[in-house]
This record gives sequence, structure tokens and C-alpha cells, in this order.
Amino acid sequence: MIDLPGGRLVVLDSSRLGREDGALDESQTAWLDQQLAGHRSLVVMHHPCIRVGGASFDNIRLDEDSLRRLAAVVERHDVFAVSAGHAHMSCFAAFAGTQGMIAPSSAYEFGLVDGAFSYQLGEPQYLEHSWSSDGSSYLARVITVEPALWRTMP
Ligand SMILES: [Fe+2]
Repeated sequence: MIDLPGGRLVVLDSSRLGREDGALDESQTAWLDQQLAGHRSLVVMHHPCIRVGGASFDNIRLDEDSLRRLAAVVERHDVFAVSAGHAHMSCFAAFAGTQGMIAPSSAYEFGLVDGAFSYQLGEPQYLEHSWSSDGSSYLARVITVEPALWRTMP
């Protein structure tokens, strides 16, 4: 947990040894509940809380028990967003009264092409979160890393 001007950043370890899906146990969601109390916060972890788009992707999210526990905590507090990675694609959907997000990857992008798990070497990107020092004006913005791709507008 890091307190920043206007908001708190709360990071959770959702990894499971040797598995692709993620989990948050009861002690983690209880800790999260304490961290979120009285603070506008951004919650971040590796595994997504929202659907990714297809059964072969959705099963790399947090498991169902973890999703229920996480949603029950998040909906009680003032949360900018719950953001994750892992799926290597940009996805955004409602979650527990706030925004669920999956950041793009700075490496390759995953996708389903004709139902097959596929990847492409797309533009390296990441998701930037920002807010003003009074906790308003939260913004999530996809940033393309590669400087050579940028052109100055005439
Ligand atoms: Fe991952």
C-alpha cells in the first residue's frame, strides 16, 4: 500500500504457484477491506477480475470464490478502479460498482483468432492511472511505449 496525494494505491499478490489462474484468500480480502476504509483507492493485482472474452481466457482470471470476496469488499469502498494485467490485452468492464480493467502488454498481445489462442507482436503499451491531488479527475490511459511510432501533429 502506498499513500499518494488524493488517493491510495493498494497492490495484492494474486499469483498461485504453478497455475495460470489467480486467487485472493480470505486474509488478503480482509486486509484489502482495512486498506480501503476511508481512502479513495486504486486496487492493482496481476490477475483480472473481469471477463477476458472466451472460455480459454476467462479461466485465467481470479477464481470464482476470490471474485466474490473481492467484489464484496470493493463495493463497500471508494475505488477508482481494479486493474490487472496477465491477459496481454486491453479490456474494460464494470466490476463491483467501479471499473475493472486489464492493461495492455509491453510485449505481445493475446487474442482469439478463429477460436485459436493466438498472439501478435503489436505495439508495446501500458496502462497509466492518474488522478488529481484532491482525489478527483481519475483517468486511465493506454500509452504506447515505442517513441519511434509517435509523430508530431503539423
Ligand atoms: Fe501473467
